[in-house]
Amino acid sequence: MKLTKKNIVEFLNSTDDELFKLADKVRKESVGDEVHLRGLIEFSNYCKQNCLYCGIRRDNKDCIRYRLEPEQILEFAQKASGYGYKTVVLQSGEDPYYTKDKLKYILSEIKKLDMAITLSIGEKTLEEYKAYKDSGADRFLIRIETTDKKLYKSLHPNMDFDNRVKCLENLCNLGYEVGTGCLVGLPNQSVESLADDILFFKKINADMIGIGPFIPNPNTPLSQESGGAFDLALRVMAVTRLVLPYANIPATTAMETLDPNGRLIALQSGANVVMPNITEGDYRKFYELYPGKICINDTPAKCVGCITGKIKSIGREVSKTKGFRANKPD
Ligand code: SAM
Ligand code: FES
Repeated sequence: MKLTKKNIVEFLNSTDDELFKLADKVRKESVGDEVHLRGLIEFSNYCKQNCLYCGIRRDNKDCIRYRLEPEQILEFAQKASGYGYKTVVLQSGEDPYYTKDKLKYILSEIKKLDMAITLSIGEKTLEEYKAYKDSGADRFLIRIETTDKKLYKSLHPNMDFDNRVKCLENLCNLGYEVGTGCLVGLPNQSVESLADDILFFKKINADMIGIGPFIPNPNTPLSQESGGAFDLALRVMAVTRLVLPYANIPATTAMETLDPNGRLIALQSGANVVMPNITEGDYRKFYELYPGKICINDTPAKCVGCITGKIKSIGREVSKTKGFRANKPD
């Protein structure tokens, strides 16, 4: 659907629930009723960056740090395959401990399990992105966070908006399925800039778009901010579905943190992907981007059963495929 910035702002400012019904209809017509599950492994919470909103930022001395060794990552991936996952998502802070060679090893071993692999490890060089692709990575998630350059600069010390865009461009050129997204409810973020974020997703023809409310973490400089509202985050997600009908759009964990039914509501308002956590033990708790993270005491087995039941309860099906982006006519 072709929407102007003015149309998008109107949708975001409205209180009408018709938007969610429309997004659900567009989702059904373009990507169908299947929900793709992606098993998320949070393999390191060390980060050299210092994003003001993020609980694993470098300067958060209260964060208990951990790193998983390659063999442990492979064990989690194997178990995920056993539970029926067709995709594993490897996420971490920007942690130089995982050299190009270490990652190449991990990727090529996971590839033997016949799973799609998504990386979410931040900004790297073109050469590194190419090496990961050659070793079996299929997709890469890197949210732009906000397209308001002034706001971006104020939230990301020593990072560069243009470099983040360049990373997205490099990933597209290397043939990755590319995911981006934004945070909703950042301090000084306008509805107009959220509309620009959606138009940015369209401009780069993103394959995956993750939208989550900003949830203030008490151990960060933004601890006193009010954070994002569930409803606005849901609206941004629903309009994104209208603008990019064929994209894969997750019902994000942050949404479920704000509303106990958040992921089901999101699945009925345009989303078609869920990313259950398959990290085991205390690591889940230590990967604390924001407070109130769901399922921190659960096991991967429980999470897969729980989310499958929820998906079936709304008349949808868990996909048995790797779930690459549906036809790309936009
Ligand atoms: N380091 C990688 C990167 O920069 O893409 C991936 C890890 S990063 C922790 C994953 C995402 O967490 C970020 O893109 C950001 O949108 C989200 N995030 C961080 N802090 C958050 C907060 N306080 N509330 C909601 N989401 C947050
Ligand atoms: Fe690096 Fe959040 S500051 S992952």
